[in-house]
Amino acid sequence: MYSRIILLFLFSFISQISMSSNFDINTKKIIEAKSNQEEWITHGRTYSEERFSGLKQINEKNVSNLGIEWFHDLDSSRGHEATPLVVDGVMFSTGAWSVVFANDASTGELIWKYDPQVPREKAYYLCCDAVNRGVAIWEGKIYLGTLDGRLIALDAKNGALIWEKITVEDSKAYSITGAPRIIKDKVIIGNGGADFGVRGYVSAYNSKTGEMIWRFYTVPGNPKDGFENEAMKLAASTWSGSNWWEYGGGGTVWDSMAYDPELDLLYIGTGNGSPWNYKVRSPDGGDNLFLSSIIALRPDNGEYVWHYQTTPGDNWDYTATQHIILADLMIDGQNRKTLMQAPKNGFFYVIDRLTGELISAENYVRVTWANKINIETGRPEKTALGDYEKEDRLVSPGALGGHNWMPMSYNPETGLVYIPTQELYLPFQKDKEYTFKKDNWNTGIDLTAINPPKNLLQLSLLVKSIRGRLSAWDPIAQKEIWKKYQTLPWNGGLLSTAGNLVFQGTSDGELIAYNAMNGNKLWSYDLQTGIIAPPITYSINGKQYLSVVAGYGGVFALQAGLPPKYSGGPINGRIVTFALDSKEQLPKRIANKIMPKPPESMGNEASIANGEKVYHYQCHMCHGAGAIGGGVIADLRYMDKETHDNFLAITLGGLYTNKGMVGFADKISEQDAKDIHAYLIQRAKETYYLETLNSALK
Ligand code: HEC
Repeated sequence: MYSRIILLFLFSFISQISMSSNFDINTKKIIEAKSNQEEWITHGRTYSEERFSGLKQINEKNVSNLGIEWFHDLDSSRGHEATPLVVDGVMFSTGAWSVVFANDASTGELIWKYDPQVPREKAYYLCCDAVNRGVAIWEGKIYLGTLDGRLIALDAKNGALIWEKITVEDSKAYSITGAPRIIKDKVIIGNGGADFGVRGYVSAYNSKTGEMIWRFYTVPGNPKDGFENEAMKLAASTWSGSNWWEYGGGGTVWDSMAYDPELDLLYIGTGNGSPWNYKVRSPDGGDNLFLSSIIALRPDNGEYVWHYQTTPGDNWDYTATQHIILADLMIDGQNRKTLMQAPKNGFFYVIDRLTGELISAENYVRVTWANKINIETGRPEKTALGDYEKEDRLVSPGALGGHNWMPMSYNPETGLVYIPTQELYLPFQKDKEYTFKKDNWNTGIDLTAINPPKNLLQLSLLVKSIRGRLSAWDPIAQKEIWKKYQTLPWNGGLLSTAGNLVFQGTSDGELIAYNAMNGNKLWSYDLQTGIIAPPITYSINGKQYLSVVAGYGGVFALQAGLPPKYSGGPINGRIVTFALDSKEQLPKRIANKIMPKPPESMGNEASIANGEKVYHYQCHMCHGAGAIGGGVIADLRYMDKETHDNFLAITLGGLYTNKGMVGFADKISEQDAKDIHAYLIQRAKETYYLETLNSALK
């Protein structure tokens, strides 16, 4: 009798859990997500990916009372780019190295964690840090793409592995950083690697079994092997030269997607050309379809419907993988079904999402490679200033784009699209000695040009001219309504709400709320690490929360050599959740970056010069241009005695492989490594001198 009562009790307890939290997301629920304000059930909040929430308990009047309700420390100091999902009171987010965290969304308590154990050697094949942008949820399962190219299904209740599939082909240079999207039981996933010479594609997998249903390539393969479909045949006619397919082509689908259930169209954005240099890739011209394009596909079978190419003949790493938003807009008295994107190339596009026809396009940052987009032809009018075949060019936007992956937000109440833009350019110089190297960086431009000037005045001018700008953009009038400048580029993604608010984190570590109508700053909070991920909002038991995964990183943080305010050594990522009148405090961050006295100089002028060159080909992608660390990975000017002693063992021998620092013995000679060491000591001495001078003057 007694045991029967216990059993009964147990049974009712278990069924209570499963009734209240079965994480049962499906097509209908995502289609209706617009009216489900409490939860955040898909990457961009809805299939149209507006990233707008109708919640308004937190609003322009009381936002100044926001405080920390809970925070949860993650376990890596690499970049954090995730959009968390919130379903049935549980928050599902990701950290660096594709690790998934499930937390109680009202208390922050960790429910489970899943680490797919990505081998750290993978780090070499990642252009842009060990990041992940989030998971998808469907019928009780969590779906995750990993850096080493696996698609994984987990039990949403406890994180147990249900199935996993390798989605990448025989190249080591494919990686997944983007969030999967799910349409009618199909998990749609792309990948990255276009900077390393891969062929882009997107695939769909059966959500229950993990079986692949279709794959759509974005660029053609070797014509001798036959084309997969008519679209590839069409695409191949836009490439030229005798061996273009051997370069991989690029066009990877590494981030944005959107879905219109009524038209039953899946929209994907494709990446840059591989190599970047167009003349190498396609010497006799051609548009190189479907690079830098938006493509509409049938989600049931991956069939091509239409495309719009933003940058024909891409020469500058101008991906069109940036956030895609679907909205119905009144344009010239007509209600148009539009698709909006601000790709890297500097233009804001409004496109008819039924046909792919261009409606309008205007530049949202300074653009030097084209005068304008011709509305009749839908094509850019290119200028000589973007052509670096014969002359070196300083091109705006640079390869990191006028806008990168950081999501925008469309607020239907203000009618504005909020864009995290950046004012950045890049010196493009042709790499005269370029040859294709499989599973290696393939840009075809001279990366040593990225080295910042030594002259301090030139350097300060350069630093001053680079900045971030939050832009409130009217997509109908195609013009900026208000703007806010930020000290540095590489600021966080956006969220707008019915509380007349826009939220954004900055690379300097502030989470800020602006008035959505006029851009007035209403509130900010110092999170002590750069913020690049977009905030989300949700509501549980009538209480509204605001949440962001803080943690600086990503490509700019690794490569640019421009550290933000918090660069005193890396700090682990952290999920931080706010609510009105909450008072939790973050532990104080002690940033003590003290420079050890550099050792004696090594080498001569010629070896230091060689070291500088090889450094910018092999090391600056992670340790920063000019050997100035961005605050995420070790700043090599600050090496201590032990590290100097181990320099060759680390650099060539792979002593720190488990930390994501592979050995370069198969890529550079011992003399090159010694020359890099000599260059780094020289840079350390220059910095040491300046820092000593600075503190003496204080
Ligand atoms: C793919 C990214 C990546 C590249 C490329 C890379 N490193 Fe590293 N490196 C790391 C990481 C990650 C660490 C260890 C974690 C940390 O210190 O932040 C590291 C650490 C080091 C350290 C130890 C620093 C210290 O103070 O502990 C040295 C020395 C080093 N790298 C040298 C080099 C050299 C020389 C090159 C070019 C030949 C290079 N690295 C290229 C990622 C990279």
